[in-house]
Amino acid sequence: MSDLFTLEGKTAVVTGGARGIGEAIATALRDAHARVFICDINPDVGAATAQRLGVEFVAADVTDSASVDAAFGQVAATAGTLDIAVNNAGIAHNHPSEDLSDEDWRRVLAVNLDGVFYCCRAAGRQMLQQGSGSIINTGSMSGHIANRPQPQSAYNAAKAGVIHLTKSLAGEWSARGVRVNSISPGYVGTEMTQLGMGNEEWRRTWLDSTPMGRVAQPREIAPAVVFLASDAASFCTGTDLVVDGGYTVW
Ligand SMILES: NC(=O)c1ccc[n+]([C@@H]2O[C@H](COP(=O)([O-])OP(=O)(O)OC[C@H]3O[C@@H](n4cnc5c(N)ncnc54)[C@H](O)[C@@H]3O)[C@@H](O)[C@H]2O)c1
Repeated sequence: MSDLFTLEGKTAVVTGGARGIGEAIATALRDAHARVFICDINPDVGAATAQRLGVEFVAADVTDSASVDAAFGQVAATAGTLDIAVNNAGIAHNHPSEDLSDEDWRRVLAVNLDGVFYCCRAAGRQMLQQGSGSIINTGSMSGHIANRPQPQSAYNAAKAGVIHLTKSLAGEWSARGVRVNSISPGYVGTEMTQLGMGNEEWRRTWLDSTPMGRVAQPREIAPAVVFLASDAASFCTGTDLVVDGGYTVW
């Protein structure tokens, strides 16, 4: 049974792996014996994190498809295979929608939705050629519900897009050996949520809206990715695994 969860012999890339949830995912994949490449726009923090974890680093800006193709190609060329792609890089933006600029809308969609598509496409090409692979996209509970009290329509729309993109690609690629799934975390204690947790009204609303009454630690999100990456999830494709402390039950 426990062997079902091993990632021995597999190569994984984790975008946004320099810190936060991505760093925890890279750690958990490494602990499950995968060869891990952190991929991030921030080469200083990314390389330092990779060194600390004893994994490898490649730089890419997920909003630039050429940069994604080069990074994923480098991983496949170095390791000889690409078995697991965790498309996790993301940014948050809170602003009233009636005043949201074209630039801010585009920036949020560029990272959170275009970037996930570019990474899926780069990984998918390699995996379809191999006839095997597991793609895990980081969605959010924000793809299922609209958060409160902060206004973040662009983020929510992008995350709903990630969940449906995941299902669409699963429909296209699963018969050819490539499983595509997503995870949807609730609030997690990372730099992304630091500002909100520092705002008493937001913090209170977030915690009161979560049946478990707390935010997650990044390491509580990562095991869901190990499961979806592994043979234990051999019949899971097109699914979204919600890890939210119960937020979406209310
Ligand atoms: N923190 C939460 O509460 C929460 C909840 C649900 C979903 N998520 C999602 O989880 C993912 C990780 O979030 P986090 O909280 O760890 O955020 P974080 O801000 O701590 O880390 C994000 C990482 O992504 C990298 N990144 C940003 N833009 C990039 C780009 N264009 N190309 C490559 N890398 C880029 C950053 O350098 C950083 O290392 C995101 O997709 C986020 O939307 C977070």
